[in-house]
Amino acid sequence: MRISERPLLTAAQIRRRVAELAEHISRDYQGHEITVVTVLKGGAIFAADLIRQITVAVTLDFIRAKSYEGTLSRGVVEVMVFPEVSLAGKQVLLVEDILDTGRTASAILERLKVENPATMKVCALLDKPTRRVTPVPLDYRGFSIDDRFVVGYGLDYEERYRELPAIYLVEDS
Ligand code: IMP
Ligand code: MG
Repeated sequence: MRISERPLLTAAQIRRRVAELAEHISRDYQGHEITVVTVLKGGAIFAADLIRQITVAVTLDFIRAKSYEGTLSRGVVEVMVFPEVSLAGKQVLLVEDILDTGRTASAILERLKVENPATMKVCALLDKPTRRVTPVPLDYRGFSIDDRFVVGYGLDYEERYRELPAIYLVEDS
């Protein structure tokens, strides 16, 4: 495989959109503290940029999700939480790199609900709406994209390309 010569989304486009999302989020949570729960690994880069532009108080937590696509356990998602703080009564904002089928976000939301947060919203940098299998309430969307595999800015192909500052299309070579 190879990646597109030109980015689908440039670093400048991403920067502008992240600033807009941060402004929107800061306005909506005025007077509250946000418990940002970031989905590893893909969401880490987006969350790092986003929270530095949010103007209300933020605490930062992480969770990890693994999905199994084997024949017996198709679409089963295992969620690993790092329970540094309790989410009870908190204003939780789940930060993800991309919503594809929605299975991962949906499983994570179910898992986090158990902790009884006061509110729970979802922020994803990218959304592939045509791929959705499980509906997910998406409160803050960076960009809506076509059904194409993308890498960069946290997103990987077999663990590579996460470090790229822009987002590229994966092309068959
Ligand atoms: P889901 O299908 O919504 O559960 O998405 C599962 C995960 O697949 C996402 O969190 C990403 O890690 C990964 N993923 C989905 N689409 C892409 C893509 O285009 N590039 C890289 N990773 C992707
Ligand atoms: Mg991945």
